[in-house]
Amino acid sequence: MLIVEPDADGLGRAVELLRQESVVAFPTETVYGLGAHAFSEKAIAEVYRLKNRPSWNPLIVHVSGVAEARGLAERWPDAANELAAQFWPGPLTLVVERARHLGAVGPRLETIALRVPAHEVALKLLEASGLPLAAPSANRSEGISPTTAEHVLRGLPDVPLILDGGPASLGIESTVLDLTGETPKLLRPGALGLRELREVTGAIALPDEVVDGAMRSSPGMGARHYAPKATVILAKDVREVEHGDLAGPVAVLSYESVEDFSDELVAEVLSVDPREYAADLYAALHRLDDAGVATIIVQAPPETEEWLAVRDRLRRAAAS
Ligand code: TXA
Ligand code: MG
Repeated sequence: MLIVEPDADGLGRAVELLRQESVVAFPTETVYGLGAHAFSEKAIAEVYRLKNRPSWNPLIVHVSGVAEARGLAERWPDAANELAAQFWPGPLTLVVERARHLGAVGPRLETIALRVPAHEVALKLLEASGLPLAAPSANRSEGISPTTAEHVLRGLPDVPLILDGGPASLGIESTVLDLTGETPKLLRPGALGLRELREVTGAIALPDEVVDGAMRSSPGMGARHYAPKATVILAKDVREVEHGDLAGPVAVLSYESVEDFSDELVAEVLSVDPREYAADLYAALHRLDDAGVATIIVQAPPETEEWLAVRDRLRRAAAS
């Protein structure tokens, strides 16, 4: 079996694979990651190959604690200390200057993206292996991120081992914050909200594009991403979409129930709460793909900051 329980035996097998410079998929509180020894060229090459990830897109490195993170950084700014104290382990990735004695993880950047995941299995794996683990989301490049072990298996059947930690509780990727400049800069909106971050750091620079949803500041933030096989159409009022002419089967994905309109269509009604919505979003997209849906009409979420990460993912899912 590829999918294994994260007991002593499963963790032992995972550690062995990582030490042999192979790769292992493991759960985190955000999404499942495809883990590899961060400073093994061979293992990192395997991550890029399995994901079909473009070589210019760098990877996040997961570590077991703040001390381990500092050890990989050339400079550890005060803001990093404060943010780590408040939010690690948790869904926040910090971009800092990479320690000069270390090789680049992926493309030759002078920076490194670090986070301590808040998941027992991930932490056990980091501790038992004693390795910093580079881990992008465990899906093919541009596809929907996995929130269960089964999603990983379907998207990446060639991964040698998947540790099963059940469904990811947050269901959306970490927030990525760049601390290399004067003001912290948001590179990717994610599970940790801006309001909580600002309470610790004060002002956060938002690239203009974040406002209209076409943010490209993090190298990995290409327009099309997080996309299901189906065509995604975003609509303020889904009832106004003429669905008769769309390729079928057509589905509706909404945060409120859309009576009458969706009766004859496949419907996924998530939540009016942005956190609950985020937790279910990728699983819902996976379900719609599995159901063979050809077009998904998505009710565009409110334009408030709480919905920033969800809006970002939906816009990318809808980009062509
Ligand atoms: O929640 C998450 O962050 C998940 C779990 C597995 O931890 N990981 C994840 O990794 O989403 P990935 O590779 O799918 O996304 C990493 C993002 C990309 O947008 C990448 O471009 C950016 O972080 N990134 C990585 N290293 C960077 C760096 N040195 N500077 C700027 N952006 C970086
Ligand atoms: Mg990803």
